[in-house]
Amino acid sequence: MTNILGGPLVLRCGLVLGNRLVKSAMAESLATDHGLPTPRHARLYERWAQGGAGLLVTGNVMIDPEHRVAARDVVARADAQGSYAAWVASASRHGVPVLMQLNHPGRQTPRRLCAHPVAPSAVKLERAAWLFAAPRALDEREIVGIVARFASAAALAERSGFAGVEVHAAHGYLLSQFLSPKVNGRRDGYGGTAEARGRILVEVVRAIRQATSPGFALAVKLNADDFERGGLELADSIAIARRLDDEGIDLLEITGGTYASDTLLGRASPGREPYFAQYVRALRPQCAVPLILTGGHRDPDRMAALVAAGAHDLVGLARPLVLVPDLPRRILAGERPALVEPTFVPIPGVVSALALRWYTQRLQALADGA
Ligand SMILES: Cc1cc2nc3c(=O)[nH]c(=O)nc-3n(C[C@H](O)[C@H](O)[C@H](O)COP(=O)(O)O)c2cc1C
Repeated sequence: MTNILGGPLVLRCGLVLGNRLVKSAMAESLATDHGLPTPRHARLYERWAQGGAGLLVTGNVMIDPEHRVAARDVVARADAQGSYAAWVASASRHGVPVLMQLNHPGRQTPRRLCAHPVAPSAVKLERAAWLFAAPRALDEREIVGIVARFASAAALAERSGFAGVEVHAAHGYLLSQFLSPKVNGRRDGYGGTAEARGRILVEVVRAIRQATSPGFALAVKLNADDFERGGLELADSIAIARRLDDEGIDLLEITGGTYASDTLLGRASPGREPYFAQYVRALRPQCAVPLILTGGHRDPDRMAALVAAGAHDLVGLARPLVLVPDLPRRILAGERPALVEPTFVPIPGVVSALALRWYTQRLQALADGA
């Protein structure tokens, strides 16, 4: 049954993925003080490449050093191409393509890292509000500058040897804030209607296409739903997915939730459906772009059944690849390794933070050879 997961997939840009199992983005928190990747990144990605995934997506790389999600995030710096090249070579020499995930946190940046965050509108985060400074609204000139930064970071990724980039437009970060009616109260061309809320994302996609060659893959990670009152909901998410499809992107990764919901790192078990399976059922008939469904996949037979049924094309795996870094190779060999996941006290807001810390420490141990 799991044979279908071993089948290749050719993307619109011509990139060939060897199988249907994708290592989804996980911030490594391993960068230098200047935001550069280190030999620990290289060791970690070499390990994942040897683990048999058909595609690796890096943890989020910041397009602006002044706006970071976490202190040790990688930052895109045009003057340090060699360090990104060493990072990606560790995986690509094993024949596994790597996408660099590009992100701007907008208002979701801790105040100790950014005292003056920006957002589509001056709407403060409600959950854990003391950790985050109130954002100010971006002006149009700044929006144009942010679009250009996404494009130059993508060009840097291409020069460094990455097979493509994934634009992070999910989880409540800046591009996702633009999509959210709750955070985007703008009255100019970047807000108001659903179409205007999606404008910056479409501009980012076009600018990246212009700055990179036709064979360079372009993926977008999108929330099916923010799971937050007043946030992005499925109907608007489908509309933006269709626009991205028309723009000719190569891959669309479906996820959900923001800092204000615990959906993103919710409970998962082999007996449960992956988190956003029902959303993908609604989305699939609406667009032709290959879909990655990420979140909660724990049962290889169910993964294969979903792909066989055409629900989605690729299976995104994050925490399972921290627990068992060669899980794809083992699934494709017909093994069923146990995934022993820790349980955390189910306190809203705290559970995700604890899980993030636990998995970050574990992936750092993998980088050190554990
Ligand atoms: C330690 C950790 C770091 C993460 N960092 C990112 C990130 O940088 N970008 C992103 O899009 N998602 C990030 N995620 C979310 C995962 O990509 C994925 O959507 C989520 O873990 C659900 O998938 P899973 O059930 O396979 O773990 C992170 C998750 C974890 C556990």
